[in-house]
Amino acid sequence: MQSELKTKFEKRTAHIGILGMGYVGLPLALLFSEEHFPVTGFDIDEKKVATLNSGGSYIVRILPKEIQSAQRSGFRATSDYSHITRMDAVIICVPTPLNEYHEPDLSYITSTVEAIAPRLRRDQLIVLESTTYPGTTDEVVIPSLEKGNRAGLKVNRAGSLGDFYVAFSPEREDPGNTTVARRDIPKVVGGEEPMATEIACALYGTIFNRTVPVSCPAAAELTKLLENIYRCVNIALVNEMKQLCHRMGIDLFEVIDAAKTKPFGFQAFYPGPGLGGHCIPIDPFYLSWKAKQFDFRTRFIELAGEVNIGMPYYVMEATAAALNERGKPLKGSKVLVLGLAYKKDIDDLRESPSLTIIELLQKRGAQVLYNDPYFPRVGRGRHYNLNMTCTPLDRLEQYDCVMIVTDHSDYDYPRIVKESQLVVDTRNATKGITAPNIVRC
Ligand SMILES: NC(=O)c1ccc[n+]([C@@H]2O[C@H](COP(=O)([O-])OP(=O)(O)OC[C@H]3O[C@@H](n4cnc5c(N)ncnc54)[C@H](O)[C@@H]3O)[C@@H](O)[C@H]2O)c1
Repeated sequence: MQSELKTKFEKRTAHIGILGMGYVGLPLALLFSEEHFPVTGFDIDEKKVATLNSGGSYIVRILPKEIQSAQRSGFRATSDYSHITRMDAVIICVPTPLNEYHEPDLSYITSTVEAIAPRLRRDQLIVLESTTYPGTTDEVVIPSLEKGNRAGLKVNRAGSLGDFYVAFSPEREDPGNTTVARRDIPKVVGGEEPMATEIACALYGTIFNRTVPVSCPAAAELTKLLENIYRCVNIALVNEMKQLCHRMGIDLFEVIDAAKTKPFGFQAFYPGPGLGGHCIPIDPFYLSWKAKQFDFRTRFIELAGEVNIGMPYYVMEATAAALNERGKPLKGSKVLVLGLAYKKDIDDLRESPSLTIIELLQKRGAQVLYNDPYFPRVGRGRHYNLNMTCTPLDRLEQYDCVMIVTDHSDYDYPRIVKESQLVVDTRNATKGITAPNIVRC
């Protein structure tokens, strides 16, 4: 039986169900479709389901023709969970945000797993990909799957043969990164027992060039968190350095470029206006929350969080100081913010520092407008309510300050510097341009 599932993966005959057609789930569905697996994408958002089924896309970097090509390989989207029973592999890619107290919000995972459980059947493989704290698969997912199915199906555990397989495999996508093909990003897999790991590796081996088996789901869960905490802590370090360099009159970007010529022991991280995205600002707190259960304080995470959360405030103060130098108060100044996305060339504004900076500037009485080619308008989100529309990038001389918050490649930086009264550059986007109206912070 066990090898039957593996054979189905190897022969591309297995039905793959992916739950959550977002930034992670949809590209994953397309990878399996490229391998000619019949893929079903599940989402509770009816609008997304309808868009996909009409051959459209709602993610800028995924073209409608890619969806249409997947449809020719059998890809369909649905919100109907009854199709779960037909799936051989069920991969969960739903959100894992923080709640208002900065604690893990597992409600998307729990509701998804509760919906799968009654439709579970023998010999299915269930994989969780959503980023979460170590222990989620064992303590939340498996108990809920076992409790919620009426047939009394049990997971395969080491030493006790069960009915279905469970694994955790973290998503490692880097949105906007075109230097590494998705296929070349090794896939870490931690099964509940060795056979689950082997079967899940067989599944992912069809779309990734390398799989990396680890001993258990918790090891795979922590691998993802370690990767993101490493980034978060190192970004905090350079963000703090940036503030010191500002005072000392040293160009940190020049220093980083020099330091990275060292062939060992140094990896370059770059400062910015604050953290953004679904991962780096959020994931570390999943671990610090869990650590408390073990009477342990994750001080690096807390310190990094403190520095990174303070960056939009630092940018706002630096802007106020630059305007002050020119005899202008922030209150009443007209500020154009360039870039809403949390990083360049992507259409994702989750946790973007631009949103915080706009709100801080507005609170201090500035008249704020924005431009971002990826967002014609911005309304209301979990942590913001801006209700603004994109301003065209012309007549730049009318603004007291043009602030580069996201360094999209499409912007013509020499022109922006030439036409603006004052440019506040939080990303070193104006590197190589020398002009008295640039303030780098
Ligand atoms: N975006 C990234 O670059 C990235 C990278 C690595 C890991 N992750 C992790 O992957 C997970 C998913 O992130 P994302 O960026 O794809 O989120 P997303 O918000 O883009 O997509 C999640 C999708 O899940 C759907 N959904 C919610 N509940 C559902 C349910 N019960 N059944 C079916 N669909 C449901 C939502 O409607 C949405 O379309 C998160 O845990 C995130 O931390 C994201």
